[in-house]
Amino acid sequence: MPWTPVWYMRQAGRSLPEYRKVREGVSMLDSCTRPDLITEITLQPLRRYDVDAAILFSDIVVPLRAVGVDVDIKAGIGPVVATPVRTPADLAQLRALEPGDVPYVTEAVRMLVSELDTRPLIGFAGGPFTLASYLVEGGPSKNHDKTKALMYGNPEFWHALLGRLADITISFLQIQVAAGASAIQLFDSWVGAVGPDDYRHAILPHTSRIFSALGSTGVPRIHFGVGTGELLGLMGEAGADVVGVDWRIPLDEAVRRVEPGKALQGNLDPAVLLAPWDVVEERARDVLRRGRTAEGHVFNLGHGVLPETDPGVLARLADLVHTESIQPDA
Ligand code: CP3
Repeated sequence: MPWTPVWYMRQAGRSLPEYRKVREGVSMLDSCTRPDLITEITLQPLRRYDVDAAILFSDIVVPLRAVGVDVDIKAGIGPVVATPVRTPADLAQLRALEPGDVPYVTEAVRMLVSELDTRPLIGFAGGPFTLASYLVEGGPSKNHDKTKALMYGNPEFWHALLGRLADITISFLQIQVAAGASAIQLFDSWVGAVGPDDYRHAILPHTSRIFSALGSTGVPRIHFGVGTGELLGLMGEAGADVVGVDWRIPLDEAVRRVEPGKALQGNLDPAVLLAPWDVVEERARDVLRRGRTAEGHVFNLGHGVLPETDPGVLARLADLVHTESIQPDA
């Protein structure tokens, strides 16, 4: 590729009118079990933006629901779990995930890969801390208090929980790669809530196991979280090929924090896209300039597309990234 590749986290979804249209009358999680809808929604952003990858339309709680966890996604709130997981007995909710539990994912990925031709499809799953937080808290949480209380106070249970979640995640990612996904991203979105020492002992062993289980597939592995400036080195050490960076630290500083040999992904503040175009342009150029100090750079936002974003700005931004970064002789 002669330019810096670009895609957007949450590129499908609420900022697109055609998304809202096909979702009418279908709940979020039901739409994730219909191969026709998964395929259509995954492709919608590619019709508008010249992005270099598609990301599967699904959600991090899809594999949990597939093994029987009573979880729903409430509009404007997020995942809500009927019976939170807080005691060893609650772990019975988390059996292993088999390919037969998510046939719609396999079918949709296969259809997408044939439609997309050479354009890569990114598969994804939730990271251990983020999934644990939804299960323990029972829903979205600002401070993840109950989750961290378990992490600090009951290490044995904590490791049992994260071990089960890692098994489910490994299986969910392997299913997507087996069906043809050509890269995977682990969204440990809320892991920035813990400090480096706790990350190393309480989370990294599980994340490492996830990435190493995917190693033999040969697909690039991306690792992302929000507010993870102090964890970037460890997130690379966990075995990712690409480390995602939010907007809170500049990419040239992230380069100093991540061990050599890794690429970076990011990191334009999604809120910048709500400012006038000349501001977007200047900020995007700055991200590209700093990204050149990395061994590889995938342009992205520092977190997901905000629902109020003008799709026209995202289209213009993808073009800008290409024209600014193109090296005709490369
Ligand atoms: O990037 C993409 O376009 C692929 C689709 C995707 C969705 N969820 C679809 C979705 C991806 C990659 C996710 C991952 C996800 N889900 C994460 C990690 C990424 C991140 O943003 O940090 C998390 C934390 C979740 C859990 C979740 N699901 C939340 C917090 C919400 C938002 C609730 C709300 O309405 O504000 C969801 C719902 C969700 N997942 C929507 C979409 C398109 C919106 C559903 C709707 O249209 O009502």
